[in-house]
Amino acid sequence: MTAEESYWWQTAVVYQVYIRSFADGDGDGVGDIQGLRARLPYLAQLGVDAIWINPWYPSPMADAGYDVADYRDIDPAYGTLEDAQTLIAEAHALGIRVILDIVPNHTSDRHEWFRAALADEPGARQRYHFRPGAGADGSSPPNNWQSVFGGPAWTRVDSGPLKGQWYLHLFAPGQPDLNWDHPEVRAEFEDILAFWFDRGVDGFRIDVAHGLVKAAGLPDGADADAEPQVMLHTEGRHPAWDQDGVHEVYRGWRSVAERYTPERIFIAEAWVPSNERLARYLRPDELHTAFQFDFLRAPWRAEWLRKVVDDAISSAASVGAPPTWVLSNHDVTRTVTRFSRSQPAHLVDTAWERGRWGEEVPDHPLGRRRARAAALVQLALPGTAYVYQGEELGLEEIEDLPAEARQDPTWVQSGFTDVGRDGCRIPLPWNGTEPPYGFSPDPGAGLWLPQPWHWAQRSAEAQDHDPESTLNLYRAALRLRPELWSGAGPVEWIEVAPDVAAFGRGDAQCWVNTGDSEVSLPAGATVALASEPGVDRVLPPDTAVWLR
Ligand code: GLC
Repeated sequence: MTAEESYWWQTAVVYQVYIRSFADGDGDGVGDIQGLRARLPYLAQLGVDAIWINPWYPSPMADAGYDVADYRDIDPAYGTLEDAQTLIAEAHALGIRVILDIVPNHTSDRHEWFRAALADEPGARQRYHFRPGAGADGSSPPNNWQSVFGGPAWTRVDSGPLKGQWYLHLFAPGQPDLNWDHPEVRAEFEDILAFWFDRGVDGFRIDVAHGLVKAAGLPDGADADAEPQVMLHTEGRHPAWDQDGVHEVYRGWRSVAERYTPERIFIAEAWVPSNERLARYLRPDELHTAFQFDFLRAPWRAEWLRKVVDDAISSAASVGAPPTWVLSNHDVTRTVTRFSRSQPAHLVDTAWERGRWGEEVPDHPLGRRRARAAALVQLALPGTAYVYQGEELGLEEIEDLPAEARQDPTWVQSGFTDVGRDGCRIPLPWNGTEPPYGFSPDPGAGLWLPQPWHWAQRSAEAQDHDPESTLNLYRAALRLRPELWSGAGPVEWIEVAPDVAAFGRGDAQCWVNTGDSEVSLPAGATVALASEPGVDRVLPPDTAVWLR
């Protein structure tokens, strides 16, 4: 492996596989490893450098697998450890790296450690945060922290030796938070990392990386912070999040990764209030990269695109890390839908976005046009790009799921006020004209989330031979990306018009028009790729081009 290859992660296009909804191999209506293996050629043809697989460990699925019962095995619904090894080998043979998702902030309530804690086995409860309740009879939660999914972040044990005690869960009650001040917790996770690295895994995406360490004594947050959705603080700091002590954990993890050749890598999911706070996770002896989420929070406005791009690049550069570009993932409204309503003049809050259903009828063709343009911007920027499954098919958020179909714990925990994230997790349409669109080999399989009846034209097969499809736009962009943009140098803005964000990198340029009138393209430039067909001398509204 050349030195350049060992830095693959600095420019990679990483495709996010939400395994439950990617492809079902065994016909039970749930995606699995067998289904993913069968579609690896599709991913190779798409041209991605790596896949990041959402949690596939045994789990009672209180939060779609982010409640892990055993970190060293595979959930039977997805396959076996042997299947996982085969998948890793097959992906590598196609030149695709494999990144897993590690969930260190909390375990499942079915994890053997939590069971041991509830049984009050010696030393077991110290691995979690158990506290007596407040008030004379202990019937109030120990502090005012709220769950990200809604309601108090504490649940009272109602039977057994710990009856009456409360335990902390920043997410669902089935996801008790670990106590990261406990040395056994630290040792256990370093061992889990090595377990998977030994099996050839190339890196980990770290779930809720800013959550692990809590402020000593678990003090109340300020009143304003008692609101749900405390995961992303826009101002101030909350004692549950982004505590300085968390960095010591990652120094230990980095030394585990450095034991391997090539070095294994980490990507932090850390919702912190500023890029400056984020940069602290990326110091040279900590994590390699972190998701920078402002790109997916930016409204469709050139001035915001310029701003989030500049901010992301300069803060990553301050610690020598590559910037990262995320348009979408399994927690947020799909790009097409986000851009299909009127655009605010501020960064959006991802949960706020979900509340817009019913407020304004979405114009999906418009949203899709913008999403295609946004993809070209994303893929022209320096650093790493993350593509969430289904974005390459131009899928929209399914906002009108029937209440009884909803699975996300957010729906129940918010008292049925936040529909949650199911709408971006619908099983992918592969082929055919009606559900399950080839997702499952069994046409009668009841899928874990229902697909809409209008997705025939959005299937991978329907788009495969259509030169104007979103799938073929992504394929073309990923094919051209190394030639035009890899190693092309820094972003240099070109002044065109307030509604146009245009930048050059080396000999190539990327232009995007977020306004409502067309603009002229520079004379002498050749259009290498455009987000809409027929773009030549002028750039129409809601369109992007790559020029050389
Ligand atoms: C992360 C995951 C999300 C999950 C939460 C709790 O934010 O992306 O899906 O619900 O952590 O593990």
